Amino acid sequence: MRVGLTYDLRENYLSKGYSAENVAEFDCIETIEAIEKVLLSRNFEVERIGCLDKLMHKLIAGERWDFVFNIAEGLYGIGREAQVPALLDAYRIPFTFSSTEILAVAMDKGLTNAVMRTYGVRTADFHVVRKMKDVERIKINYPLFVKPIAEGTSKGIDRNSKIDCIEVLRERCKYILDTFHQPALVEEFLSGREFTVGITGTGDEAKVIGVMEISMIGDADKQAYTYENKKQYEDRMVYTIVTEPSVARLALKAWQSLHCMGAGRVDIRMNHNNEPCFLEVNPMAGLNPEYSDLPILCRKIGYPYEKLINDIINDTLSRMNVTQQAN
Ligand SMILES: Nc1ncnc2c1ncn2[C@@H]1O[C@H](COP(=O)(O)OP(=O)(O)O)[C@@H](O)[C@H]1O
Ligand SMILES: [Mg+2]
Repeated sequence: MRVGLTYDLRENYLSKGYSAENVAEFDCIETIEAIEKVLLSRNFEVERIGCLDKLMHKLIAGERWDFVFNIAEGLYGIGREAQVPALLDAYRIPFTFSSTEILAVAMDKGLTNAVMRTYGVRTADFHVVRKMKDVERIKINYPLFVKPIAEGTSKGIDRNSKIDCIEVLRERCKYILDTFHQPALVEEFLSGREFTVGITGTGDEAKVIGVMEISMIGDADKQAYTYENKKQYEDRMVYTIVTEPSVARLALKAWQSLHCMGAGRVDIRMNHNNEPCFLEVNPMAGLNPEYSDLPILCRKIGYPYEKLINDIINDTLSRMNVTQQAN
């Protein structure tokens, strides 16, 4: 079988003048090598395609693959994670993880919250601020939490994201709108414990593989898992595997409600009543074997990285009606 690998490599963009924050979600070569190693161990013929541009050129030149292992995060637009999948759909080439429209919806945290509520998955109360006048309509009790509606890696989240009054709320929303050129998502501040939940599989086959509590220590920003905390995770964060059935249940319900596929993570935080609330779903979670949250969780529960990648491959193959067994 011929398998293509699509990805956005950090170093390619840094050399073109993009900032470290621009490329924070992109991958380093070790991630590509680790995934490729598993694909090769199954005797697939692997081609490193690279980013959207490279894929477009190859498709137009007539190249095809039996399926594509896609981890390209995309550069521009709220639906950027769905761009490579959309292109592959157009050429009827199967790919890993969720379908195009799910990847696009999951990028918009406001839209995703609305979907979750429809399925009875608890979220923080929320309000989308597209224009500054929207701030005046917010009726959620303080303290609030403000974040860009469609970023990852906690971009736009720092010590000032928790908001106690309307004046600061206006300032913060303006900062998000001006800096990130996208709506601000204003939510009730969830003051409780935080978890990320690892999930593999699709639909009825989906299962929680582990629940990991995320705690701040030392000089960490205490209110949230901020951009700085993520960058300095070795000094500032402690990750602990816990048994929290209500958290696991909510995460699985969220995953299945949106019909996410393959493997990924759901982030959960408790409110002041100790009720778990959905924060976001990561249907294309980072797969760096060292520092990405899902592989960290796997390492802690003794779930081999190779097994995780094989789960993702097998999920795609099962949709293609191919019965090659996992190694
Ligand atoms: N409503 C909220 N209340 C409290 N903290 C929040 C809230 N929303 C997000 N956070 C904090 O910000 C972090 C990043 O938010 P998240 O929605 O998971 O975005 P990202 O895609 O950047 O990971 C979370 O891990 C959490 O610590
Ligand atoms: Mg998150």
